[in-house]
Amino acid sequence: MAFYSEKVMEHFKNPRNVGEIKDADGIGEVGNPVCGDMMTFYIKVNNNRIENVKFKTFGCGAAIAVSSIVSEMAFGKTIEEVMALTNADVAKALGGLPPNKMHCSNLGADALHKAIENYKRQKI
Ligand code: FES
Repeated sequence: MAFYSEKVMEHFKNPRNVGEIKDADGIGEVGNPVCGDMMTFYIKVNNNRIENVKFKTFGCGAAIAVSSIVSEMAFGKTIEEVMALTNADVAKALGGLPPNKMHCSNLGADALHKAIENYKRQKI
């Protein structure tokens, strides 16, 4: 476990914003076919800002830590700010991830972006 940063371990042991939003404005789901991990993000949007965000992740410790930090990073941000979040931003916010765990960080931003795309489609 020594290869995980303290921040990763902390978010893994105590993940924020776990759960589901029943009347979500947008839902984004991604999976990694190689490891089989799945991540779903639910968002509520008000005045172009993320006013609530929850996630459900079935995956490794890094994927859970990534989901948790992504949910924190998204809270209160505008749609545009969230769309600008990159996988590298997520890994950096966690104090880095081991090379073989970088794909786990990719799932986080991708799931969140999908939830926003889903929200935008429903608005049209
Ligand atoms: Fe696949 Fe972490 S091992 S998301």
